[in-house]
Amino acid sequence: MSLKLGDIAPDFTQESTEGPIHLHQWAGNSWVVLFSHPKDFTPVCTTELGAVAKLKGEFDKRHVKAIGLSVDALKDHKAWVGDIEETQGTAINFPLLADSDRKVSNLYGMIHENANDTMTVRSVFVIDPNKKVRLMITYPASTGRNFDEILRVIDSLQLTDNHKVATPVNWKQGDDVIIVPALQDPEELKQRFPKGFKTVKPYLRITPQPGR
Ligand code: BEZ
Repeated sequence: MSLKLGDIAPDFTQESTEGPIHLHQWAGNSWVVLFSHPKDFTPVCTTELGAVAKLKGEFDKRHVKAIGLSVDALKDHKAWVGDIEETQGTAINFPLLADSDRKVSNLYGMIHENANDTMTVRSVFVIDPNKKVRLMITYPASTGRNFDEILRVIDSLQLTDNHKVATPVNWKQGDDVIIVPALQDPEELKQRFPKGFKTVKPYLRITPQPGR
């Protein structure tokens, strides 16, 4: 059965550049971004790993831990990490799983045989502190991901969890948001949205982004 949003992220123990990782224990109360790379020593992956390392401050602000994966061996990862530091101007500051037995790749459905039967595709999973899968995105091997978009979705998910709001098309930090339709209690609406809200339709209520 393939993984779906809302499922508990499958737990695993696997080797990494920071020693063995037991996912649920390693995650603790943090959010997690788990993302796969087709292969070590490849150009697109090299740029992505550098970019994620540079975003550490943004991940930390959101209580997110990043963890990468490829199906190559730990010794290859260790050599590649040196190349990333040299070419991207930053050291890797998160673990890279060495999934040479494909344990994690198979658990998460990261190998799409009709695309390539040996390499993983570029999968992204966002896992919340309750270990639920909240986002899954799949990119082709030849397209580098947009990690700003992944941060944007995490911001949206955290707003929903903390403030009962959803985010409209192309939303970005500071834009107005939408009150979730399930929230109808007038007292709770007043308490949660002291700046008020505009009812465009009974199901479309717009309010300034809470918590700013
Ligand atoms: C890359 O990471 O550069 C890459 C990997 C697989 C296919 C194409 C590009």
